[in-house]
Amino acid sequence: MPKASDVLDRVLVLEMVRVTEAAAIAASYLIGRGDEKAADAAAVEAMRKAFDELYMDGTVVIGEGERDEAPMLYIGEKVGGAIGKGPKIDIALDPLEGTTITAKAGPNALAVLAAAEEGCLLNAPDVYMQKIAIGPGYPEGTIDLTKSASDNVRSLAAAKGVEPHQIIACVLDRPRHAEMIAELRELGCGIVLIPDGDVAGVIATTDPETTIDIYMGSGGAPEGVLACAALRCVGGQFQGKLLFRNDDERARARKWGIEDLDRVYSLKDLAKGDCIFAATGVTDGSLLDGVKHLKGGKFTTESVVMRASSGTVRWVRGEHHTTD
Ligand code: FBP
Repeated sequence: MPKASDVLDRVLVLEMVRVTEAAAIAASYLIGRGDEKAADAAAVEAMRKAFDELYMDGTVVIGEGERDEAPMLYIGEKVGGAIGKGPKIDIALDPLEGTTITAKAGPNALAVLAAAEEGCLLNAPDVYMQKIAIGPGYPEGTIDLTKSASDNVRSLAAAKGVEPHQIIACVLDRPRHAEMIAELRELGCGIVLIPDGDVAGVIATTDPETTIDIYMGSGGAPEGVLACAALRCVGGQFQGKLLFRNDDERARARKWGIEDLDRVYSLKDLAKGDCIFAATGVTDGSLLDGVKHLKGGKFTTESVVMRASSGTVRWVRGEHHTTD
């Protein structure tokens, strides 16, 4: 049986794009239709089906929820066309990252997944995670989740050789971030407030064209692992800490083998070893263009697929035709 690393290399890297493309295309028919659930369900079903074409013995480690909560792509579900035969691959996925964005036709909705050798992606429970991320090129230790937002901005500004007010932060627009936003306003920082979609928000720190220097705030823990897989491929720093609102959430984390509930995770704690990150744009965004439906049943997609061990980033533009 081939080792997972060989197969990540030879077959799966590009094949993963077919899977995110399928989910994005399915969701694209529901853009701006005001129905989050229908958009999500379409993406889930299409992604589930597309996995069957891949020669792998895949296990969903981050998915649509637990078995009793999700009919498809639940945590622990086996996916792939070679179950019991092919290489064992762990998959973290979000067939539609940005359900509300899609329903409202906003920016940055993605179909996204990460794949790694067995045991390399943190089995993150569906709880919040406090996150901080910066792009590549800064000394290790430039950010520290245990310090205040302003301390982090000062540290980043010093590393970048600019004043703190010249730093641009990306933050999810949520009431829970009011205090942090006020603190950043005190420093005079620019703040890009995003309505949803913090996988794209974290990845934006790695692209100078976005002008975003730092991502801060809390969002979904599964999205944190997905973003880390991307940062492992293109560089950058990330720290995350799980946030629990009640004992039920703590119990969920313990169930997935997390013992130290106060741990601050680094990039490699969340996505270690070799890994692949693939995404296809559903709506236009900072990372990718969305699905475009053109005349004559033709439509286009834009995707990216990256691999940690080689650092290769491939941009894939697809032209598709409806068959019905
Ligand atoms: P969904 O696609 O599940 O709607 O998630 C969108 C999202 O904005 C994530 O990017 C983010 O991590 C999370 O929701 C934030 O959660 P909340 O909306 O509860 O603040």
